[in-house]
Amino acid sequence: MNVAAIDSILSKFPEIKGSLIGILHEVQNHFHYLPEGELRYISKKTKIPITQIYSIINFYNRFSLKPKGKNEICVCLGTACHVKGAEKVMNEISAKLKIGKGETTDDMKFSLDEVRCIGACSLAPAVVVNEDTHGMVSPKQVTTILSKYKD
Ligand code: FES
Repeated sequence: MNVAAIDSILSKFPEIKGSLIGILHEVQNHFHYLPEGELRYISKKTKIPITQIYSIINFYNRFSLKPKGKNEICVCLGTACHVKGAEKVMNEISAKLKIGKGETTDDMKFSLDEVRCIGACSLAPAVVVNEDTHGMVSPKQVTTILSKYKD
């Protein structure tokens, strides 16, 4: 368990009450998921019941209890993106990485998920990799996009 990392994250939140979501975001960004041991440590340190922590995690899709890849790919499958061929883009990414939705590559480099509208419909079909939004993505562009994140 990485106590130092959690202590460092908690130190950014002088007011723990009302900061649980922010804390969990920081933990997920650090580990790329929410490890059980670290969650129990947060519960002990903050005196927030572990059941309350898990109910927040289960409520928000963004949080994951399973290890995620270094690069998180989210393909938008909202209506505008679906109409413009997002499913083909998703299938191409899935084929190239040999993983399905909700899965992570064995080398832990990529995770693949779907989202429903990221508010960039004019860029449909849209794919988000980490903090980067790629717009008007065609299946042919998938290899180029993935290669930017391989190292
Ligand atoms: S439907 Fe994909 S960005 Fe809105």
